[in-house]
Amino acid sequence: MPTSQPKTIYLSEYRVPDFLVDHADLRFELFEDGARVHSSLSIRRNPDSREQGSALELNGDSLTLESVHLDGRQLAPGDYDDRGELLVVPSVPDAFELQVVTWIEPQNNTRLEGLYKSSGMFCTQCEAEGFRCITFFPDRPDVMARFRTRIEADKAAYPVLLSNGNPVDSGELDNGRHFVTWEDPFPKPSYLFALVAGDLVEKTDTFGTMSGREIDLRIYVEPRNAEKTAHAMDSLKRSMRWDEETYGREYDLDIFMIVAVDDFNMGAMENKGLNIFNSSCVLARPESETDMAFQRVEAIVAHEYFHNWSGNRVTCRDWFQLSLKEGFTVFRDSQFSADMGSPTVKRIEDATLLRTAQFAEDAGPMAHPVRPASYMEISNFYTLTIYEKGNEVVRMIHTLLGPERFRKGSDLYFERHDGQAVTTDDFVRAMEDASGRDLGQFRLWYEQAGTPVLAVEDDYDEASQVYRLTVTQSIPDTPGQSGKKPQHIPFALGLLDTKGADIPLTLAGEQSTGETTRVLELTETSHTFEFTGIASRPVPSLLRNFSAPVRVNYPWTRDQLMFLMSHDSDGFNRWDAGQRLAVEVIRELSGHAEAEVDPRLVEASRTLLNDREADQALVAKMLQLPTEAYLIELADKPDVQIIHHARERVLKVLATALREELLACYRRQQPAEPYQVTPEDVASRSLRNMALSWLLHIGDQEALTLALEQFEKATNMTDQAGALRALVNSPFEAERGQALEAFYQQWHQDPQVVEQWFSIQAASPVAGDLPSVRRLLEHEAFDWKNPNKIRSVVGAFAGQNLVHFHDQEGSGYQFLAETIRRLDDSNPQIAARLAAPLTRWRKFAHVYSEGMRKALESVRDKEGLSRDVYEIVHKSLAD
Ligand code: BES
Ligand code: ZN
Repeated sequence: MPTSQPKTIYLSEYRVPDFLVDHADLRFELFEDGARVHSSLSIRRNPDSREQGSALELNGDSLTLESVHLDGRQLAPGDYDDRGELLVVPSVPDAFELQVVTWIEPQNNTRLEGLYKSSGMFCTQCEAEGFRCITFFPDRPDVMARFRTRIEADKAAYPVLLSNGNPVDSGELDNGRHFVTWEDPFPKPSYLFALVAGDLVEKTDTFGTMSGREIDLRIYVEPRNAEKTAHAMDSLKRSMRWDEETYGREYDLDIFMIVAVDDFNMGAMENKGLNIFNSSCVLARPESETDMAFQRVEAIVAHEYFHNWSGNRVTCRDWFQLSLKEGFTVFRDSQFSADMGSPTVKRIEDATLLRTAQFAEDAGPMAHPVRPASYMEISNFYTLTIYEKGNEVVRMIHTLLGPERFRKGSDLYFERHDGQAVTTDDFVRAMEDASGRDLGQFRLWYEQAGTPVLAVEDDYDEASQVYRLTVTQSIPDTPGQSGKKPQHIPFALGLLDTKGADIPLTLAGEQSTGETTRVLELTETSHTFEFTGIASRPVPSLLRNFSAPVRVNYPWTRDQLMFLMSHDSDGFNRWDAGQRLAVEVIRELSGHAEAEVDPRLVEASRTLLNDREADQALVAKMLQLPTEAYLIELADKPDVQIIHHARERVLKVLATALREELLACYRRQQPAEPYQVTPEDVASRSLRNMALSWLLHIGDQEALTLALEQFEKATNMTDQAGALRALVNSPFEAERGQALEAFYQQWHQDPQVVEQWFSIQAASPVAGDLPSVRRLLEHEAFDWKNPNKIRSVVGAFAGQNLVHFHDQEGSGYQFLAETIRRLDDSNPQIAARLAAPLTRWRKFAHVYSEGMRKALESVRDKEGLSRDVYEIVHKSLAD
């Protein structure tokens, strides 16, 4: 733990490694009071390094060194230097065998990096720099070794022993112990190493690949979760087939394993052949998990599986290139989810996350480019920018090249770089080489931070039937970057005629093609486009399908927005028009409690509720009001309390005016049994639960009866939790308490459901005031060592319960600061992630920003702050 300022690492200082590791032979002796790790590395000097006489330096963290041998000869303490974070051997030959024995204590590892214990099982998490907590190693992704791993443990307590690759040996040892040896034929960086030892049940299946090989699929879980693996297994098989069909990528080992663990910092991890998952991201069955959880499991299983090519076969040269694997893989998993469900709904979900959370990150003190230029702690850079903006950047390449040329580009990328550790620039070059397109200016998307803003102006000339559109881009300054160059932006648009039909788009000087959606390419600060043959003033539909991660400003009237909502042929923009309308209506009420709610919003919502022809999945999305978080992101110096109350008012006016329609909708939307996660059924349940929650929000008695009945009779968690959430957020105090109690009694043995139960309360403006949230921390089911529990209480409170978190006395901020200080010692990664809401302090109105700053300062002043929290707090307090 640093007491002084941690070091900043710069991309510009990248040097190839001085030493390479060809083989890593590991032997783990696992015991209850610790583990001994015997490592035997075949090392040679890197011919590409300029430092041919340099000392060998291996990374280490929290290791007890027991012995070092070089080519079989034990080194005396004077022959090496154990500097804690670095093991230095000053004089080594050009090629040699290094044997190191270390002692570690997985049972005391609360950081959950490296080797640790979770509910009685041993497991690992090595990305990004966890392998150095296991043994001394050049722990950087451009050092790729063939691993052989022997695990020894007590046979009764740990019958299952797993690592990467294929099992090649196993047998009995003395004292009731046994061993299994695994060999991974693919060279890999240390961050993809994994080990699991536990008493687990195995669920198996097989997959026949496109070249006719049969792969063994295995999901390992604790016995109590044996009934929750079917959905993940189906998702895995669909992912494997999809990657063959869409990218021509076949799985390469004979076994693919997934393990579920309860204590995990992240969602899941793509270790070669042995993916390790947070239980909440892999276990699902209808009775205990919601539709959202089912969709999340499918997407995450796909994501980690897709990494086998985009990440493992072709990996990152250094951690500045993180988006090379994460951005591309998120793009691949969103394409997959779009293909499995509703593409428009998936696009809306991705854009919502981006516009709410990534835009906020990009406008705050932690803003950084998709390929950052520096960092202190790499764990802090698993961000929305790396993931979601990185996804959008790949998507824009896909849009600019078209699907065929994009596929040629990805084929070339995988073929050219198979087995290598490469850069985002290598990715872009493969796309250029395969397509013949110049992406020179496009590369700025990787280098410049900040969200581009497009200001759009138009003008229509009836006499010449010309419609002129001027688009001006600007990119705001971000920490360390100002005076940005214009970026290459694919800007998709359409024009609607007075009847709402798409107008064929012909630019001045062009032959008409009949196309009604065009992707214009913005490369300069300002462009004017002239569309000819436009018979009357059109309504523009801009940035169709959200073709670029930018903000668009255009002065649509509310009537034009209503018009787009019902006529735009682009589903995404129909939704977006509704959002823009709602944002305006809510904004108009902010600070004017008595002002009337624009009846146009009520009528637009009524039309949607009554529309049985429309795609119900889209209707369900369109009826959702913009979240408080999004309204805050859009506002300048927002007053959270005012925004909250304005939005509440609109919700109440809508629910009151549309009572009959909502009841009718509730009765109509009854998905057929058996439970299925199809877009239609998901939409049905979501509309039904929305109707219920709106009506309970205004204290409707009939809705109360419906909610209680739904709560009791539900056969799936979407309906049961939907009813519970509606009750918890209703004014019916007695029923709220009874439902919460009954739910806990029913589900207290299922940690995933208890996490739901925690977060429904912690996120509730009604039940989640600070004293109640503090009581949740005292609850028997709460556990400070379990990241999911912390997220479901503290994360849900600070991230979703904005009216209480932004209490004007600052008590919510102090509570969060207290939690961060407490977790900083035990789990700095989680502590640093929890700090995100406070980092945006400068954005808020003065009454809020002062309290947020004070809370940050109280974290800054803690003794022995971790590097993780140090970086976040210092960067957000810097001038
Ligand atoms: N490689 C990451 C997991 C990871 C992240 C390990 C940060 C160490 C530090 C994995 O592929 C991933 O991205 N997981 C996501 C879920 C995914 C669907 C976006 C996660 O864990 O949240
Ligand atoms: Zn990933």
